[in-house]
Amino acid sequence: MTRELRAGGGLSGTVRVPGDKSISHRALLFGAIAEGGTTIEGLLPAEDPISTAACLRAMGVTISPIRAGQTVRVEGVGLDGLQEPQDVLDCGNSGTTMRLMLGLLAARKGRHFVLSGDASLRRRPMNRVGQPLAMMGAKIKGRSNGDFAPLAVSGQKLRGGVIGTPVASAQVKSALLLAALTADGATTVIEPAHSRDHSERMLRAFGADLEVGGEMGRHIRVSPGQKLYGQNIVVPGDISSAAFWLVAGVLVPGAELVVENVGLNPTRTGILEVLQQMEARIEVLNRHEVAGEPVGDLRVRQGPLKPFSINGDIIPRLVDEVPILAVAACFCDGESKITDASELRVKETDRLAVMTRQLTAMGADIDEHADGLTIRGGRTLRGTDLDSETDHRVAMSLAVAALLAEGNSRLTGSEAAAVSYPNFWDDLERLHR
Ligand code: S3P
Repeated sequence: MTRELRAGGGLSGTVRVPGDKSISHRALLFGAIAEGGTTIEGLLPAEDPISTAACLRAMGVTISPIRAGQTVRVEGVGLDGLQEPQDVLDCGNSGTTMRLMLGLLAARKGRHFVLSGDASLRRRPMNRVGQPLAMMGAKIKGRSNGDFAPLAVSGQKLRGGVIGTPVASAQVKSALLLAALTADGATTVIEPAHSRDHSERMLRAFGADLEVGGEMGRHIRVSPGQKLYGQNIVVPGDISSAAFWLVAGVLVPGAELVVENVGLNPTRTGILEVLQQMEARIEVLNRHEVAGEPVGDLRVRQGPLKPFSINGDIIPRLVDEVPILAVAACFCDGESKITDASELRVKETDRLAVMTRQLTAMGADIDEHADGLTIRGGRTLRGTDLDSETDHRVAMSLAVAALLAEGNSRLTGSEAAAVSYPNFWDDLERLHR
C-alpha cells in the first residue's frame, strides 16, 4: 500500500507504544511449554507474535484470541507436550519465531517438523542456530546446507555441553537455552557480547534453574531436567517502537511528546545512551519494575543534536534502532558513524543497503560500508517516492524522515509497520499537527 506522508507540522501529545515484541514471543512460547495456564497482559497484537501463536496452535496448544487490549491465555502442554503438526509451520516474517522454534523443536525426540516463512525469512541465515544446535545432537536440514528455510527438523534427545554462539544474538542464545531445558547434562551458552536477556529473565520467572555469570552475563548455565510453571506476565511497551517517537520528538520543531510504559531493560537501552551522547532532551519519568522488567515513561522535547559514533558492544543493545538512528544522523550537523553493525545486513532486509538507498533518494549524504554507515548530516532532505522494501522498521524510520523533509513523500509498502506496530499510522496521525 502506498501512503501519502505530509511534511512539516508539529508533533505533540502522549503515546503508549504496543507491547514489546521480544517479550511477547517469549511469553507465548514459554507459556505453551509450561505446566498449567499462563496469562499475558499487554501482549503485542501484531503479525510477528501472531505467527508464533499460530505455530503453537498447530502443535496442539490452546491460546485465546490475540486482540488489542485483551489479556491472552495460554494453556501450557508441558515441555514434551507439543504434538507433531499436520502441516508446515508458517513463521511469516518473524526470525524470532523461526529461531526460537528451532531450538525447542530440535529437542522433541521422535517428532518431525517443517518450518518456513515469507520470502524475506526464507533468505535469512539459520545456520547460526543450526550449527550450535548440531553440537548438541540436533538434526536440521534445509537449503544451502541447512542455512535457509524451509527447514526440516527431526527431533532428538539432545546432549548438553559448553556451546559458544557465533554471533551476539538473543535469538540464537534463546534457541540454545530452550534446547538445553531437556538435554542430557548441563548446558553452558557463551555469547561473544551480551545480547538482550529477556529469555533469561522470563525462564527464571517460569521456575527454570538458570545461572548467569561471566563478564556482563555472557555465560548462561542451564541444569538438566527443567520444568516450567505457568505465570502471569505483563508485557511492557517496546523501546524499539518508542524509538521512532523519541527521534521524531527530538527533531520536529517545537515537538513535545510523552511515550508511556516503555521497557527499559539495560540490554535494550543503547538508543537512550546514544541520544544522550547527542545531547537530546529526554527524561525518564515514573521508573518502576513490572514482572521482572524495568519500565518508565519517556518525555522528549525538540532541541539541537550533536552527531554520534557507535560501535562494539553497544550495537547488540540497539540493533533494531540503527535505521531510525540513520535518520537522526541526517539531521545533526557533522558526521555520524555506525560501525560493527554487519548484523543489519541479515535482518528483515539488508537494512544498511535499504536505508542508504531510501535516504539517498531524499538527498542525504551517506556512505555505506560493509559493517556500517557514515552520514554527514545537515543537508535538507526533500520529500520523494519512498519504499519500505517490505521492512517494518524501515517503513517507520522513513515516516519520521518524511515529516522532516521539504515537500511531501509517498511511501510504498507502508503496511509493513503492522509486523511490530499495528497502530503506528493512527498514532502518527493523532500526534502530528
Ligand atoms: C530479537 C533479537 C534481535 C532483534 C530481533 C528480536 C529477539 O535479533 O533484532 O528484532 O527477540 O530475540 P538477533 O538475535 O538476531 O540479534
